[in-house]
Amino acid sequence: MRLDIFTLFPEAFEWFASQRPVRNVLSAGSELHLRNFRDTTPLSAGQVDDSPYGGGAGMVLRVDVVDAALAAAYPGGERPRTVVLTPAGRQLDDALVAELAAEPALALLCGRYEGFDQRVHDHLADDEVSIGRYVLAGGELAAMVLADAVVRKLPGALGHAESATEESFSEALAGAPEYPHYTRPPVYRDWGVPEVLLSGDHERVRRWRLERSAERAARTGGDPE
Ligand code: 6GU
Repeated sequence: MRLDIFTLFPEAFEWFASQRPVRNVLSAGSELHLRNFRDTTPLSAGQVDDSPYGGGAGMVLRVDVVDAALAAAYPGGERPRTVVLTPAGRQLDDALVAELAAEPALALLCGRYEGFDQRVHDHLADDEVSIGRYVLAGGELAAMVLADAVVRKLPGALGHAESATEESFSEALAGAPEYPHYTRPPVYRDWGVPEVLLSGDHERVRRWRLERSAERAARTGGDPE
């Protein structure tokens, strides 16, 4: 996958870009480009925003600035699926992550201040995505959440081929959260590990895990469909 992230704060993504799953997919041929709106703005003095028509507080990122950034990144004119991160968007879930992970390329647009001129949403973006019902100061953390979730679905992101198949909200668990995990020691203080996990009976372990997963789904309201 080719992933382009458009932001006023590319340095905010340094930690994300250094993480193992990202490095794994990059060495397997994926691309990650961080693009600063200021580097391609057609306006003087690095201007990227303006005060809103009709008045009001804050600044709005300009549509010409966003269009110029996209034009510079995709000089052939063919643009990938373009996602604008906004608290007013469709809420991100595992199904949307899987859909986005199947794209050959994605562009993520991160806004700040009062967000983007509406014409960015209407004419330049294909999707509006939110990561939850609360407001962040900018789209960068939301873009990192989305990109992290997408990257770990790409082939070769994780150490084990199976690591992403039986995880929370996956089809293998019928959309339920994952079952609990335990490791040594078998007893700590008086907190024991469920006996079934020490039994060596793989079929019992498998059934126990499905039950715990379904139980968590019922408890968290994260019910499969
Ligand atoms: Cl995508 N952006 C911002 N600024 N706040 C959010 C969000 C996105 N999703 C939830 N809150």
